[in-house]
Amino acid sequence: HQTLRPFPNDFLWGGSTSAYQIEGAWNEGGKGPSVQDTKTIPSDTSDFKVAADHYHHYKEDVAMLAEMGFKTYRFSIAWTRIVPDGDGEVNEEGIQFYDNLINELLKHRIEPLVTVYHFDLPAALEEKGGWSNRATIEAFVRYCGILFDRFGDRVKFWQTINEQNMMILSAGAVIGGGATTMKETYQQNHHMLLAQARVMKECHDKLPDAKIGPAPNISTIYPKTNDPLDIQAAQTFNAVRNWLYLDMAVYGRYNNVAWAFLEANNATPDMEPGDEETLKSGLADFIAFNYYSSGTVEYYPLEEETDSVEADQQKGQGVPGFFRQVEHGALDKTEFGWEIDPEGLRITANDIYSRYALPLVITENGLGGRDTLTEDGKIHDTYRINYLRDHIKQVQLAITDGVELFGYCPWSAIDLISTHEGFRKRYGFVYVNRSDFDLKDLSRLRKDSFYWYKDVIASNGENL
Ligand code: BG6
Repeated sequence: HQTLRPFPNDFLWGGSTSAYQIEGAWNEGGKGPSVQDTKTIPSDTSDFKVAADHYHHYKEDVAMLAEMGFKTYRFSIAWTRIVPDGDGEVNEEGIQFYDNLINELLKHRIEPLVTVYHFDLPAALEEKGGWSNRATIEAFVRYCGILFDRFGDRVKFWQTINEQNMMILSAGAVIGGGATTMKETYQQNHHMLLAQARVMKECHDKLPDAKIGPAPNISTIYPKTNDPLDIQAAQTFNAVRNWLYLDMAVYGRYNNVAWAFLEANNATPDMEPGDEETLKSGLADFIAFNYYSSGTVEYYPLEEETDSVEADQQKGQGVPGFFRQVEHGALDKTEFGWEIDPEGLRITANDIYSRYALPLVITENGLGGRDTLTEDGKIHDTYRINYLRDHIKQVQLAITDGVELFGYCPWSAIDLISTHEGFRKRYGFVYVNRSDFDLKDLSRLRKDSFYWYKDVIASNGENL
């Protein structure tokens, strides 16, 4: 019975990608290897060497985004294109690539929204200990300073570290440094938080007109039942998964529930003198967050502790005495098994806004599926349209609730390689003609969702 508030006139409709998943050209243009280039990939899945070959197709790709009417494009810069070994010489060819990309976007009046680091730590830094090594903080701050100097005249919106919380929960897989214990993982986390704070400060110092914020994956966590123990389990997991990262970005301090959880697990990070001040010295101007689904937890009784506890902890899925993740039970799933919860997006946006009262932007949301290319070159991805429509409705409801939401960037603008499931799991509005092991012609084709989203943007969200 609510009268819906319209989307603001300057609402930033767009889409999202990340460098290692879209660019390809993994060893061209002076680029150094990142942890994504050196990691072991399962034999049935594509590596990231060619990806969507955006490095060579960026003009055509930007033209496609412009045709859809994109107001913004959220992409990431590959650290190893700018500084191939992480902390040494600057690679002018890498700078040139992003200069070209940014200029191409601006030519089409598309606002660049830049993530500085999306899962692709320079391999050379990983060899030196990755985020376990405090020297990585210095390397990151220097790298970001270069970005601010070279692109800050044109880029007004910056994001720091993509899904730091998911990297920590999946412990070590993509952050480098080979963290094995929870304590070590949260030590790495602490270093990343220090790095983020320093970079946010640096951005404010160098670019007073720019805005910068974090890039976590925030999903509301439901209790499995109304048993107070389940509710407490959800409270703790919400703190550990979500609020730890946002309290830090917004207030510069550790969330108390998350800290108590770390203490109970002997996993509090060691602090050096000055760390607390550093954490407070650079704070976010806005909150960008990625949302795919909600989560559900129940209380995990201590007496049920098993041998797999260490493994559970590493996946962030269960910690005896606190919580373990379970299926929701009533939600539909994608064909890749991800729960679909559009209402959860409204709930999440309200949770965030009522805690922090900062402007929000959704920087990822979408459906991964196996698209079929028909003989006449069509892709009928109705399932993707349905997913996005349902979520956009909830975005509008959140706006109606009074949440200051200034943009929506589904994952992904065009097809790219999934983090773990290769090219068979697609997210884009634009189909890229290749499969996991056959590069075909890499041509770009408009999916049904392309035309649908174009109309959504043209009508500022009225035609869903
Ligand atoms: C987010 C990441 O976690 O989810 C993206 O920021 C990722 O990099 C996206 O691609 C979808 O996940 P997946 O595993 O299906 O690629």
